[in-house]
Amino acid sequence: MLAATYVMLAVVAMVTGKLDPPERHCKILMLTPVSSQSHKNVFMPLARALADRGHQITILSENPTSSDYPNIIEVTHELTSQEPPDMFEYMKDWNGGWTLFETLLPDYVKNLYKDPSVKDLYERRKEFDLFVVDHEFNEIVYPFLHEASFIMVNTPGIDYRQSAVLGNVFNPAYVPNINSDFPRPFSIWHRFINTLIQIVFAIYWRNWVIVPQLQKEISAQFPELPPLLELERNMSLALMNTHFSIGIPLPLLPSQVEVGAMHCRPANPLPQELESWITGAGSSGVIYFNLGSFSRGSYMPVQYRDVFLQAFRRLPQRVVWKYEGELKNVPDNVMITNWVPQQDILAHNNVKVFITHCGLLGTQESIYHATPLLGLPIFADQNRNSMFIRNSGVGDFLLWEELTEDVIVNAINDIINNPKYKDNILRKSKLMRDQPVSPTELAVFWTEYVIRHKGAPQLRSPAAQLSWVEFLMLDVIFLLHLTVFFLYFITRRILRVIYAKIFSANDSIKKKRE
Ligand SMILES: *[C@@H]1O[C@H](CO)[C@@H](O)[C@H](O)[C@H]1NC(C)=O
Repeated sequence: MLAATYVMLAVVAMVTGKLDPPERHCKILMLTPVSSQSHKNVFMPLARALADRGHQITILSENPTSSDYPNIIEVTHELTSQEPPDMFEYMKDWNGGWTLFETLLPDYVKNLYKDPSVKDLYERRKEFDLFVVDHEFNEIVYPFLHEASFIMVNTPGIDYRQSAVLGNVFNPAYVPNINSDFPRPFSIWHRFINTLIQIVFAIYWRNWVIVPQLQKEISAQFPELPPLLELERNMSLALMNTHFSIGIPLPLLPSQVEVGAMHCRPANPLPQELESWITGAGSSGVIYFNLGSFSRGSYMPVQYRDVFLQAFRRLPQRVVWKYEGELKNVPDNVMITNWVPQQDILAHNNVKVFITHCGLLGTQESIYHATPLLGLPIFADQNRNSMFIRNSGVGDFLLWEELTEDVIVNAINDIINNPKYKDNILRKSKLMRDQPVSPTELAVFWTEYVIRHKGAPQLRSPAAQLSWVEFLMLDVIFLLHLTVFFLYFITRRILRVIYAKIFSANDSIKKKRE
């Protein structure tokens, strides 16, 4: 009865957008020590919402946030003092930039647990009720997870490898891999390529190159621990940074919860200077150009930089360009700035197009605030996101190597002047906001659920226990073949005997007649 009342209350609370107060206040450790700022941006809304409910949140990352927030303790390790990598150098990488980690991760794993703040957290790990782990390239924190409850966050939305670990193998006939997506429906060639990429990339990461290197070092430091990938299998839940309204509808397990775009929020007023620059552009509107925190403008090869400056010079719009560094010969209609309140700009009525590297968070923000996109993907999931932008009609993308003044001017003119892009993105924006509870509330509910139910084993799919041979039923298929062969031989045998009987009977009749 009490349980039923509780469930009722919880349901009512969710519909009205207010969760019940938590049963108790918990200590939660969020682990994202290898990440760009954007990964941290996925964690922060959840961290703040949990902190608001009285839980004590500790976050291990490499990017401190500037503000103090009650109940949130930020721990940053000292392993990255160098500049962020120049991802333009990885544009031609065979696996979309992931090769970077072949050198980066082994360095991290050598030093992570020697870092005093990390060592301290590791020694205190039994204090925490739950760990929330960034799945993407953070296998090195798995030692924390031994004999503990933990959930994972899929910062890049869909990760077919992680889904497979939970027991849900996505079908490569229509689910994109991490790096690329294709026009829909996939042709036979695209399905072939997609299947190959999914298999090769998973094996490259987990079995051949990356994880084995980390495993070696971790085994040396923690000889008593089970293998990293064994520890990973004990995850309770995945919070996926995706939603079917801004992605594709997927068959999901109860342990896979879509909480995409937790960081999207209504606009705040712009700083005066930006506001008057944007409003002052009049009816021509404004182009917003930002390649994100990771792929800095100052890394942009000179020939691209110049071609953009020339193209902007020819356009009637004003441009807000986030660029870190000095720029010469900037046209009058271009404002260069090294800091921007991105969501507040995207929400402004007079901003007509967002030129982006197609990071997932920026793409989500642009859809939320209904500003059409012009993509220039650089690496990893940016290629996948750019194809999503084209497939869903909320913008288009260009390839860096094909950039000319004309190509840029034509693409911008098309997106600003053809109403279909704005119509499509307005519709998507509405769809994305049409949810029973906010994605953050949903994430809070499921996080507390896993704590309340001590790891929530009821969520585990039996599929997660199976080996590949069992899951793909290779053994059963083999047995079926055996059965067919067996039946075939038996039938043949019997028929032979029967035939032999009939013929010998015929023979003896013939003989008698003679
Ligand atoms: C698996 O998770 C449960 C709770 O979620 C925990 O109690 C158990 O110790 C974990 N097992 C291992 C081997 O880490």
